Amino acid sequence: MSPNSLPWLLLVPLFLHLAEITAKVPAIIIFGDSSVDTGNNNYIPTIARSNFKPYGRDFIGGQPTGRFCNGRLATDFISEAFGLPPTVPAYLDPTYGIKDFAAGVCFASAGSGYDNATSDVLSVIPLWKELEYFKEFCGKLKAYQGEAKAQQTLRESLYIISLGTNDFLENYYTVPGGRGSQYTVEEYQDFLIGIAEGFLREIYQSGARKVDVTGILPMGCLPLERVTSPTMGACNELYNKVAWNFNSKLQCLIKKLNGELHGVTIVYSDVYQLFLDVLQKPLTYGFEDAASGCCATGIFEMGYMCNKKSPFTCQDANKFVFWDAFHPTERMNHIVADQMMNTTLAIFK
Ligand SMILES: *[C@@H]1O[C@H](CO)[C@@H](O)[C@H](O)[C@H]1NC(C)=O
Ligand SMILES: *[C@@H]1O[C@H](CO)[C@@H](O)[C@H](O)[C@H]1NC(C)=O
Repeated sequence: MSPNSLPWLLLVPLFLHLAEITAKVPAIIIFGDSSVDTGNNNYIPTIARSNFKPYGRDFIGGQPTGRFCNGRLATDFISEAFGLPPTVPAYLDPTYGIKDFAAGVCFASAGSGYDNATSDVLSVIPLWKELEYFKEFCGKLKAYQGEAKAQQTLRESLYIISLGTNDFLENYYTVPGGRGSQYTVEEYQDFLIGIAEGFLREIYQSGARKVDVTGILPMGCLPLERVTSPTMGACNELYNKVAWNFNSKLQCLIKKLNGELHGVTIVYSDVYQLFLDVLQKPLTYGFEDAASGCCATGIFEMGYMCNKKSPFTCQDANKFVFWDAFHPTERMNHIVADQMMNTTLAIFK
């Protein structure tokens, strides 16, 4: 070792300390649909609910929370992986306050989409309203932490945005005389991307700098879509193609915004490829069933149709990729979270 290197060695602890401060994610802030809703729909009048058993049967304490799952969501595991609480509270849940939300908050609403018309279908919280709740939260955070500290929290938090599936499956391909008759599917994708762009610019204005946008999964392979697929039981390839194209457009948008918005890091999480891999080789991942959900017959039930009285609900949800006809099991969510932590989110660790 040359004597010259000594002063540098002395500086190392200082650098490490600085790195620790700037790298820390103080909170996870979530927007989206049922893929990430931790219970907001319990507090609004909608039928898009899951706060009853057997939902939550593998959750901490076996409690149904409004998560569309037997246990935790990917975002809960991500929060835990960042050293934050193991569950992210829903903003509308009155048992939590700003002290909790300062370490993680979820504005998502099951059944929602980028398009206002999508959230209208099941009277859930539209994305613009999720954004309003977020702005209300920013105000409360400033009152709680003080202006400077709150700005820092907002800047260093990880924002996760996960939605889009419902825009196609609950709205475009389902509502007669709706978006499907107004737009070609390419035009509709562009319309949604425009909304996503406006949304990302808004949260950037409010201070967001670390952002994850999660793509759509191969939605044609959801159990519910398989039963209604033209190829009965197989994945609906049209829906998968639409999801894939939408995801490509989303990636272009992210690239553009990363180049344009100073100091932002927006990453794209590719759940499409991961799901496809799991669905094609379920045994490799320890799953025995990748085509139907654990709850009830597993073919069409979700929400109120998946309840304590539903016959045929499976014993061990860990053997299934899907919990109900539309939503992954906790175990699959854990795999998604692990993969995101190892890839796209690693940059924020
Ligand atoms: C959605 O609704 C909100 C509130 O009415 C409105 O401000 C916004 O422009 C609408 N978005 C689109 C894309 O129509
Ligand atoms: C992620 O990384 C951890 C630790 O390195 C490893 O155990 C795990 O298998 C990885 N998971 C995935 C899904 O890549």
